[in-house]
Amino acid sequence: MALIDDLKDPPPPEELDRRRMLTLLGTGALGVATAGATVETLHFLEPAVVYEPERRVAVGRPGDLSVGAVKVVASHRLYVVREPAGVFALSAVCTHLGCITRCRPDRTGFDCPCHGSRFALDGSVQAGPAPRPLRRLHVEVDQDTLVVDAARVIAPGSLLRVPA
Ligand code: FES
Repeated sequence: MALIDDLKDPPPPEELDRRRMLTLLGTGALGVATAGATVETLHFLEPAVVYEPERRVAVGRPGDLSVGAVKVVASHRLYVVREPAGVFALSAVCTHLGCITRCRPDRTGFDCPCHGSRFALDGSVQAGPAPRPLRRLHVEVDQDTLVVDAARVIAPGSLLRVPA
């Protein structure tokens, strides 16, 4: 019986098609794996930064707020309150579980819709489960504009004295 030398015989056409198909499948799988690894590597190199809004916010000129007025700055979740003695800012975030409080329509205080806490206009707790007053935020005048720094909590009762 004669030996058949596979290397000398040209492969049949259907064998070529099978090899070509396996080559294409292997190349495709390698390409998909390379693309996935590249995407994940680029994602890893991108800094994982959370972009937050600017914590300092200009809220207008001191003279724009009349005594007794409450300005709601919804974008930064804070209130600016004008009293006869001056101006102060309160965080609108409830001290119970962090819901956003609402200013009462008559501007006499703030209510939390989540569990019913009620806060007076100075931020003190009137009712509800909130354990602490609303946080009072730093206010300063910068180039004749009131600027609230939402990242700086100051002592309850503090305010910025401005001329009436
Ligand atoms: S989160 Fe405001 S009362 Fe619970």
